[in-house]
Amino acid sequence: MEKKSAKSFIQEIAKFCKEKGFVFPSCEIYGGFSGFYDYGPLGVELKKNIKDEWWNTFVRQRDDVVGIDACTITHAMVWKASGHVESFTDPLIECKKCHKRFRADHFIEDSLGISVDGITIEQINEIIEKHSLKCPYCKGELTSAKAFNLMFKTFVGAVEDESSIAYLRPETAQLMFTNFKLVMKASRLKLPFGIAQIGRAYRNEISPRDFLFRMREFEQMEIEYFVHPDKLNDCPYLNEELLNFELNVYSAEMQKKGEKHKKMKLKEALEKGIIKTAWHGYWLVLMYKWFVDLGVNPEKLRIRQHLPEELSHYALDTWDIEYEFPFGWKEIHGMANRTTYDLERHMKFSGKDLTYFDEETKKKIVPYVVAEPSQGVDRAFLVFIIDAYTKEKDRIVLKLHPRLAPYKVAVFPLVKRDGLDKKAKEIHEMLKKDFTSFYDEKGSIGRRYARQDEIGTPFCITIDYQTLEDDTVTIRDRDTKEQIRVKVSELKKILYELIYNGVKFEEIKKKL
Ligand code: GAP
Repeated sequence: MEKKSAKSFIQEIAKFCKEKGFVFPSCEIYGGFSGFYDYGPLGVELKKNIKDEWWNTFVRQRDDVVGIDACTITHAMVWKASGHVESFTDPLIECKKCHKRFRADHFIEDSLGISVDGITIEQINEIIEKHSLKCPYCKGELTSAKAFNLMFKTFVGAVEDESSIAYLRPETAQLMFTNFKLVMKASRLKLPFGIAQIGRAYRNEISPRDFLFRMREFEQMEIEYFVHPDKLNDCPYLNEELLNFELNVYSAEMQKKGEKHKKMKLKEALEKGIIKTAWHGYWLVLMYKWFVDLGVNPEKLRIRQHLPEELSHYALDTWDIEYEFPFGWKEIHGMANRTTYDLERHMKFSGKDLTYFDEETKKKIVPYVVAEPSQGVDRAFLVFIIDAYTKEKDRIVLKLHPRLAPYKVAVFPLVKRDGLDKKAKEIHEMLKKDFTSFYDEKGSIGRRYARQDEIGTPFCITIDYQTLEDDTVTIRDRDTKEQIRVKVSELKKILYELIYNGVKFEEIKKKL
């Protein structure tokens, strides 16, 4: 998509989200607050469903992953040890005349239309000089680029000095490392195992942009997966289904050669050494498949390996899951091999023993983070909305997976009289106990369907005159607009099949 139309598409999505009550610009009555968004009544339901799906899949349904919920304001030593105080920076440039500030790599990408992932400060300064780039607002001269730390700093307690500095966490990950020993002991965990967390993270982004894509306060769903350092390929969970799962793969080598991504089975990517460890491949497929199972178009997903110059200070090898947004292929998930870096650093800085006793060799070892699946909640939200947003001839329909939809059902009386409204309310009350249900008696039935299509409600239940005679109702399918008539006594069971068991509307129709 062209840059201008990509921008207007994102603006259209942001407007849609605001009008329907998914997402609001934060503090709008005070002119807004750049990089901050509030979730509205429908947004909070969709976001909760995304987090529940993730937590159920990767924590509750597994025996080897446990969860924590740690603080968001954190001890300064955590970030000194992790390397964030020193290295968690983006390049900043400023206009010498109007003093507007820009994230230098984004500024170059926007000005020259080239990708400069992983570029150094020196290279940035060379490019700015070579192309005589100026401030896009006042044509003023620009300063040289300098490293800008993205962490929000605060003070804890009544005194504001060096000793009371604390940081708002820029990732949830570090708290999994600082709690590592406590969690391992309390849950009596044996390697391999993971610690998971969903929670807020804060980054003072220089130029927040693209709606929910780059925010200053956001949420992450992360797992630190620890294995024995000598067993990076012993993954007992890799079965035929996962090995034969097809991914769009874009390795560092393909990027260097100027090639496009290739479709490849995990098996092939491992055999050819493109993905280096079985564990990394396993977690990449699981996270990629999570999006596909929740309805995202697989053609718009790929895994992309970081170029060596892009790697974070803690990473040996990183693969992102990317989605093809209207503004290009962008990271929605980061998965680094963090080695033993973090536990080693925390041992060094705290003086505490964070090792694991290996019963087999009777030796202490430092567990190895072979993969750190790190998913932004808000970027997942944006993907699910954009992928589902469909314009048809006569309607806008949000084709969200039923499990994610804010309302699972809407209940309508055909007309608001003759006892149809009373019966409809009874059915709504009955359904509400198991599904999020919306009752609507206002306007024409067509208008009521259209309102639900727009917000992604997969099924609408209509109560008509026949209901009063034989206790049956119609279920209308959002995507096909087809209807079936079912007994009220079977309604919950059928809805459950449709929403949670993945049974298709067509199949139910055939069986009736
Ligand atoms: N613990 C590793 C880590 O934080 P990251 O690649 O910096 O890695 C992981 O972030 C994920 O968090 C990203 O893939 C993205 O989904 C989300 N994320 C990061 N910065 C974000 C921002 N400013 N706004 C929204 N989501 C963000």
